[in-house]
Amino acid sequence: MTAAGFTISFVGQCIVITGGNRGIGHAFSCAMAKAGANIAVLYRSSPDAEEVVAKIGKQFGVNAKAYKCDVSDTKCINDTISKIDKELGPITGLIANAGVSVVKPALELTQEDFNKVYDVNVFGVFNVSRAIGQLWIERKQKGSIVITSSMSSQIINKTDSKNPLTQIFYNSSKAAVSNLTKGLAAEWAQHGIRVNALSPGYVNTDQTAHMDKKIRDFQAGQLPLGRFAQPEEMTGQAILLLSDHASYMTGGEYFVDGGQLVY
Ligand SMILES: NC(=O)c1ccc[n+]([C@@H]2O[C@H](COP(=O)([O-])OP(=O)(O)OC[C@H]3O[C@@H](n4cnc5c(N)ncnc54)[C@H](OP(=O)(O)O)[C@@H]3O)[C@@H](O)[C@H]2O)c1
Repeated sequence: MTAAGFTISFVGQCIVITGGNRGIGHAFSCAMAKAGANIAVLYRSSPDAEEVVAKIGKQFGVNAKAYKCDVSDTKCINDTISKIDKELGPITGLIANAGVSVVKPALELTQEDFNKVYDVNVFGVFNVSRAIGQLWIERKQKGSIVITSSMSSQIINKTDSKNPLTQIFYNSSKAAVSNLTKGLAAEWAQHGIRVNALSPGYVNTDQTAHMDKKIRDFQAGQLPLGRFAQPEEMTGQAILLLSDHASYMTGGEYFVDGGQLVY
């Protein structure tokens, strides 16, 4: 017998990636397309999203399409998921990745800030998961959902040795969505649907690029691997969790954080 190496193929599958046009989501889109899946990207407002996603499709020879839809808009999500299922599907997997943050001291935070963060990071994740979960349950189809949470579900990030990064709605929303992951996993295991969280550490994206370089240098310097990740370094875990190699994994939270949580 000749060793054939280890490959994971998503040929014939259709993966939905929210926020798949930029940052970590863009790396997920490329990785899924490279593995052979048709990809459907949900985005909110980036004017170049359609072009970016079409380019991924062309590069890897798969069907790839961007759909403009706010993850917190239930009607739009239900309609769009049904459209994707018809156009590129049947949908076989979801990466619920879109997320936002508001950075302000606690005393300045408003209810509007709370809604801005929780509508996307918690309700938005639920909304898309429910729309796809419902499809799968109705037609007795198995599936896998990967939720992009964050190591911030466990810690309060710092800006220097003494001060926190003031984004308590973001960190608490990630704790909430990591628990939501467990709840969905528990409810939907009987339907053959696995739900896991992938929790990145610091990654070079638009979300972190706007931070002061001094803060980024401090954050990178205090974690074991000593640097921020590139978005591509998040993709191996997502590929594994979406694949059948993860058939006994559900309700877990997997940290891809350069060792940050060991301290
Ligand atoms: N970067 C990090 O260091 C880091 C660390 C831990 C966890 N994370 C998590 O990883 C995920 C991706 O982060 P990122 O840094 O790659 O973010 P990013 O570069 O800021 O991109 C955010 C993406 O989410 C989409 N999005 C935001 N709100 C949306 C909404 N209401 N409906 C639909 N799409 C929406 C955006 O669409 P538009 O382009 O249309 O705006 C964009 O594609 C987030 O959940 C984030 O919390 C990031």
